[in-house]
Amino acid sequence: MQHSLISALLVGAAVTTACVPPTDTLSNTITTQFGILIQNPAFPTIHDRYMNLLPAGGGDQHLFLSPVANPTFKLVLNAGALAQGIIHAVIGGEYSEVDNTTKMFMTERDEPKAIFQPVYGCDPDTDQVQIQLEFVTWETEPAGGHICVRVASGNRGYEFRYSPPDNPAFDPTNPCMAVTMVVVSTAAPTTTSSSTSISVTTSTSASATTSSSPLPYTDMTAKGFAFVGCAPEERHATDAPGRTLSGALYADDLMTDGKCMDFCTSKGYTYAGSEWTRECWCGNTVAPGRQPATTVASLANCNFKCGGDATQWCGGDSWLSLYKACPVGGPCVNAVFT
Ligand SMILES: *[C@@H]1O[C@H](CO)[C@@H](O)[C@H](O)[C@H]1NC(C)=O
Repeated sequence: MQHSLISALLVGAAVTTACVPPTDTLSNTITTQFGILIQNPAFPTIHDRYMNLLPAGGGDQHLFLSPVANPTFKLVLNAGALAQGIIHAVIGGEYSEVDNTTKMFMTERDEPKAIFQPVYGCDPDTDQVQIQLEFVTWETEPAGGHICVRVASGNRGYEFRYSPPDNPAFDPTNPCMAVTMVVVSTAAPTTTSSSTSISVTTSTSASATTSSSPLPYTDMTAKGFAFVGCAPEERHATDAPGRTLSGALYADDLMTDGKCMDFCTSKGYTYAGSEWTRECWCGNTVAPGRQPATTVASLANCNFKCGGDATQWCGGDSWLSLYKACPVGGPCVNAVFT
């Protein structure tokens, strides 16, 4: 609660300093190479991530939100068409009836291009003027559609999709969240506004159950759980297949480590692990071969913030932020990382 209040205050303060975007019309050809930062502060799990490329068949590239896939800062805009080398962004394929959206990806083929117009806007975090790519059209589609992101099938990350104007369809179980696409030349340093707000919120935090840690994990000892480490899922392991914690699963876009522990405790499990910003896995044993390392470096794999609290860490891409319930009345100490 305190966190959202402070965020609201920060946003409010930013608005009163009034970023005034220039009104001149920008060219729809940008030859200086750039990357795309994605913004939508209403959805912390997607806000301030980058549009990455994932190689597909035939030279095509899928588009995914970071940290999935490969960062790029080699995009250009050719008469409104987003391009990198010989491939360009198109819309088509994988139409989804449930939410009436269509996938955007990059290909060399002559398929209907997504057309964008650069416009000035204001950064919702820093209130600096920024250049955004406003979606204009896709082939013969009427104006007024937008680009959104939603969880891709197989939970592989967030993919990019086109949503038509006044789209009547909506999938509450996997909403396609509208994005602002910002032209940036390089990735921001890791200490950006979000990490600044961590220190602000920590000092005034109303929560008695968490505190910040200099290492990328959430100290939950006040809640009776000790952090064990960043544990691999099957994809990063060489042992027998299966989940690292195979007891119960709970998913929530507004996941926090505390919610995960409450859930696992209610189901009678002693291990709780958060993953991919929004998943919570429970178990009474950790699968053999999945014990986390105790090096500081190993924690880098669990660098996703929790969807419900950006001051907390919720695993990574097939990595669990792993916690174990402390013995009642006994010591509760996090693992030591060296
Ligand atoms: C998809 O959106 C278009 C544009 O709003 C609308 O005309 C059409 O009926 C929608 N289709 C479905 C299946 O919702």
